Amino acid sequence: TGPDTVSPTGQPTGADQARMAQSGSYLTNAQGTRLYDTDHSLKAGPRGPVLLQDHHLREKVMHFDHERIPERVVHARGAGAHGVFRSYGTAANVTKAAFLAEDVETPVFVRFSTVLGSRGSSDTVRDTRGFATKFYTSEGVFDLVGNNIPVFFIQDAIKFPDVIHAGKPHPDREIPQAQSAHDTFWDFVTLHTEAAHHTLWNMSDRGIPRSYRTMEGFGVHTFRLVNAAGETTLVKFHWKPKLGVHSLVWEEAQIINGVDPDFHRRDLADAIEAGAYPQWEFGIQTFPDTPDQTFEGIDLLDPTNIVPEELAPVQPIGLLTLNRNPSNFFAETEQVAFHVGHLVPGIDITDDPLLAGRLFSYLDTQITRLAGPNFAQIPINRPHAPVNDMLRDGFHQTAVHRGTAPYRPNSLDGGCPFTAGADLGAYIETPVRVPEATKVREAPESFNDHFSQPRRFWLSMSPPEREHIIGAYTFELGKCYEVAIRERALQVLANIDPELCAGVAAGLGLPAPEPTVPLADVQPSPALSQVGHTWPTD
Ligand code: HEM
Repeated sequence: TGPDTVSPTGQPTGADQARMAQSGSYLTNAQGTRLYDTDHSLKAGPRGPVLLQDHHLREKVMHFDHERIPERVVHARGAGAHGVFRSYGTAANVTKAAFLAEDVETPVFVRFSTVLGSRGSSDTVRDTRGFATKFYTSEGVFDLVGNNIPVFFIQDAIKFPDVIHAGKPHPDREIPQAQSAHDTFWDFVTLHTEAAHHTLWNMSDRGIPRSYRTMEGFGVHTFRLVNAAGETTLVKFHWKPKLGVHSLVWEEAQIINGVDPDFHRRDLADAIEAGAYPQWEFGIQTFPDTPDQTFEGIDLLDPTNIVPEELAPVQPIGLLTLNRNPSNFFAETEQVAFHVGHLVPGIDITDDPLLAGRLFSYLDTQITRLAGPNFAQIPINRPHAPVNDMLRDGFHQTAVHRGTAPYRPNSLDGGCPFTAGADLGAYIETPVRVPEATKVREAPESFNDHFSQPRRFWLSMSPPEREHIIGAYTFELGKCYEVAIRERALQVLANIDPELCAGVAAGLGLPAPEPTVPLADVQPSPALSQVGHTWPTD
């Protein structure tokens, strides 16, 4: 602390006071008035009534009463860490993003999470894991808000409330991930066969990672990169853990849930504290930006699709190292606000209808969760690039704006001082041609193949992985009360693979149905198996 920010009594003042909160040498109330006692209420005599005029009592209890904020509507339970991202420069030919130029170091904050459990739930449940990264780049914040599973349950964001309602605790009993919730979850994913692929990943070992440190991460959607010459490339983003991909088996997960429900967050924090910094290589699969936005017949706008790594290898473009634990869980891990629309020049979105809905949803939910529109000013969310926006006022405004009202052009009082323009390294939306179209509420034909990708996943599994998958479906479907839902689930599995269906049917004591669609003629993709997984590269 410099001398100008320390009061004559040695206490920090002004902005430093906020930064160094609760580090002074004497106790004060929230107004800075010194206190002589915080252990006793003001009373009319030692055994008399407590007095309403005790402002310290009311301030202290009032603040405590409002300590909790709403948990995230999904991904409520998470653990975070700070780190650095160092780029290799190998993406510089496809993107002008400054943080992906050669050998650039960018500070990051990463939050891992489960999707369905509440803040106090267990870590080693069977669920998808969030893998959200905030890059504090020199050109503004870039957020990659991904998962450890490369596909999603639904193809259109309008169904997100539905899938989450089906998966969250049942409204009457509020029992999470147990009996009553199973029926609604399985009802949804069997009535929406587009969910078959994500569900299969969930029932595989990927649904119970060994550690956050041994999870892959995926941006899921196809994004569009733009280079300095204005050329565009479609990409899928990948995180590849240096420790390899590892999972728990179900029995281990069950025991750990009981013995140490904080297993994953403890593992992450302990590793970082011990100096065993977890690392992931950042990678991209690249595809030509053709008008149909498909690659080898795979619709790149359908988020239930992957592109097998054998068809489009993942090219390493940088290294993420997590090297510092948060010093305050609430200030950092809880208040961090990611958004798929936080983009930097050189990275753009595509017309994936799931991504479009996300662009609305995150900002909207954060206005409630973080109480107003100014959460970008919370330290963990502040860009490291200068901010010269035209936003004013609102709940929890901490900036003291000066000058005339922020409108441009502005000829008064020096005007609105900053300029905008394409020549200033600005973010410019790619001028993608929008085909002439009629307004419709429908999905394209190409979104209708729901079974060939899950079949490829199943065929890529090793024998023990297949055994685990059959065990997981049998256990989870065994929790459904409704036989009709179990039977419908078996029909979905029959359309993926007869061996898978027969194994689960035998476990449930039900007949295995015949497929209702021809089995897809697909090849296994060894990279999908944790046994066949060839990463890391060195
Ligand atoms: C939160 C990933 C789809 C709405 C999150 C988080 C992740 C994530 C990782 C936690 C962020 C954190 O740690 O703070 C994904 C992925 C998706 C997907 C990979 C599909 C590819 C959707 C869709 C919607 C949605 C379609 C809504 C239409 C939300 C909301 C939150 C959230 C409301 C809470 C955000 C907050 O409170 O800050 N998602 N999500 N997500 N997601 Fe998604």
